[in-house]
Amino acid sequence: MTHSTNFWAVVPAAGVGKRMNADRPKQYLELAGKTVIEQTLTRLLQAEVFQGIAVAISEQDPYWPELEISKHESVLTAPGGKERADSVLSGLKAIRADASDDDWVLVHDAARPCLTTSDIHLLIDSLKDDPVGGILALSSHDTLKDVQGKRITGTLDRTHIWRALTPQMFRYGMLKQALEEAEGNPAVTDEASALELQGLQPKIVEGRPDNIKITRPEDLALAVFYLNQHLEGL
Ligand code: CTP
Ligand code: MG
Repeated sequence: MTHSTNFWAVVPAAGVGKRMNADRPKQYLELAGKTVIEQTLTRLLQAEVFQGIAVAISEQDPYWPELEISKHESVLTAPGGKERADSVLSGLKAIRADASDDDWVLVHDAARPCLTTSDIHLLIDSLKDDPVGGILALSSHDTLKDVQGKRITGTLDRTHIWRALTPQMFRYGMLKQALEEAEGNPAVTDEASALELQGLQPKIVEGRPDNIKITRPEDLALAVFYLNQHLEGL
């Protein structure tokens, strides 16, 4: 029997949104008529490529069960973890029975609601035959400084510096093993860094600059602007 590779999404959504300084975690703030997390999951569902979407949710979260999308047939809920990497690992464990080691997993932050279908397909098309996998990323336009105690000690060579976005796309088995072996390592702030610790070199796929992460209050207005632009087909 031939086995076809499936695609899964894992969405870490168990953060508290400290920098947003709002009355609830930022994934539940209103954004263009829905919550941020509904916008994000709608983008992933619209791509029509995922076998399932595992969403990692904090156990104290009263908002998630109230959302219709939490009951969607393609969406399953996993317990959130202490750090983002723990939440991602929990999402992977939630699909263990159905995913095979060489299935692809796209990990995408709940806090990035402006992801486009075109970027999802670009990432998949660029990496589906790659032995390692990779991430959406943006080159850096600003001149970057090395700073010690508010004094500049050097200027980085910008041509080698990229900003890591999500989705990040890796094989189920490789990603799970890399995250398990890196458990508790504070340097693992994204999936690629866990793979890098295994000596692997994930690939960069240049993404759209409007795939912003909602981090601070001013980001919400920018996200509304981008979502409206997408609706207008820009
Ligand atoms: N996340 C998670 N589990 C954690 C921490 C973060 O699932 N223990 C998720 C967040 O919900 C978010 C994504 O990881 O979708 C990116 O994290 P970040 O932007 O840092 O969100 P928060 O940790 O919620 O924000 P802050 O760092 O400002 O508290
Ligand atoms: Mg955080």
